[in-house]
Amino acid sequence: MRLLKKVVAVGMASTMVFTIAGCGSKTTETTAAPAETTAAAAETTAAGETTAAAAETKDPNAKVENKDKPLVWFNRQPSSSATGQLDMTALNYNKDTYYVGFDANQGAELQGTMVKDYIEKNIDSIDRNGDGIIGYVLAIGDIGHNDSIARTRGVRKALGTAVEKDGNINSDPIGTNTDGTSTIVQDGKIEVNGKSYIVRELASQEMKNSAGATWDAATAGNGIGTWASSFGDQIDIVASNNDGMGMSMFNAWSKDNNVPTFGYDANSDAVAAIAEGYGGTISQHADVQAYLTLRVLRNALDGVDINTGISTADDAGNVLSDDVYVYKADERSYYALNVAVTSDNYQDFMDSTMVYAPVSNQLDESAHPTKNVWLNIYNSADNFLGSTYQPLLQKYDKLLNLKVDYIGGDGQTESNITNRLGNPSQYDAFAINMVKTDNAASYTSLLDQ
Ligand code: BGC
Ligand code: CA
Repeated sequence: MRLLKKVVAVGMASTMVFTIAGCGSKTTETTAAPAETTAAAAETTAAGETTAAAAETKDPNAKVENKDKPLVWFNRQPSSSATGQLDMTALNYNKDTYYVGFDANQGAELQGTMVKDYIEKNIDSIDRNGDGIIGYVLAIGDIGHNDSIARTRGVRKALGTAVEKDGNINSDPIGTNTDGTSTIVQDGKIEVNGKSYIVRELASQEMKNSAGATWDAATAGNGIGTWASSFGDQIDIVASNNDGMGMSMFNAWSKDNNVPTFGYDANSDAVAAIAEGYGGTISQHADVQAYLTLRVLRNALDGVDINTGISTADDAGNVLSDDVYVYKADERSYYALNVAVTSDNYQDFMDSTMVYAPVSNQLDESAHPTKNVWLNIYNSADNFLGSTYQPLLQKYDKLLNLKVDYIGGDGQTESNITNRLGNPSQYDAFAINMVKTDNAASYTSLLDQ
């Protein structure tokens, strides 16, 4: 059965190869017969380990089945949106499957600490209405997204407002809690110069629009308006799971009211706003993530060690030091490390789309011929992905000789994106940013066909 399908696929692909030949090297003369033999040979070695060896000796022009092509998940890690548990089936889809994201817990801790440090440093002016309570509101991105959950927990933990539920910090939104009676959070206590203050989460909400898009900046902008009109003088701090929502709240209310606002992502507009009172943000090293996203594909396509140009220098001198990322082999995941961006250092982060210098060298086209990559962004309106991540990808794709088709989703429906993966045989590799982290199979099932 498989073999039959494959023959058809090979036939289709050789047509495809010629239509895209202009951007590849001269070696695109794929003949169906040898390719077929190699693919079949690879298949008989089924048990993983040995396939790698077989792959190395195979004809570089051999037709690869879609299910065996390099695949990288990025920014939205395959996982249960209910429990956060990783979807190891998706992460192990084939031997060239990886995830690229950032260390969510380390970043969340930094974000929480950044807010706490700010309070301590500004204790004399922070309590705007002088009631002894430092009140904050929190914009939540997506209650089913690991990164969003981690950030909510990080802020609550650092400010002492966290409450445990089933062994973890509860990350649910509270609605409003101006009187401090919520059971999802508790009042925290901060001691500065021998004086103690109450810290209260006054309100939090998932910023999801009526059509279902999460991390929605416009919803956050409206949300702060609603909160401010009913308890504005109690709000001393605005915290947000990301800069898109944070900047929307800053522009709508907190800037004019001198209320420090904290986000995440270090988008250029947020970094620039630090000069105007934005409290701070976290860089999730998008410059490293965007590189890693395309780099793992490049390495798999070249059939070289996966850490080439990552932990070991490549032939152009690209290499990352271990203070900017970690790799967890059991999770098949690369995680960039985060850095706090505050009034102390923001000048160094003004352009979030600048490639990371240690990995900015052009690969040689003859040794690393152009390959075609299908890549999607779950929501074309997402501030971080649109204004920081994608511009970086578009710089690295050239450096790595990858011709990438960028597909922008609507942020709500997986099918809006999967519908545009109608012909995977046209591509050499895939980079996927799901709408919902549970939905990996909607993509892999298309590659299985
Ligand atoms: C970013 C958010 C973004 C989300 C999209 C997160 O890593 O921090 O700004 O909206 O990814 O998936
Ligand atoms: Ca107060």
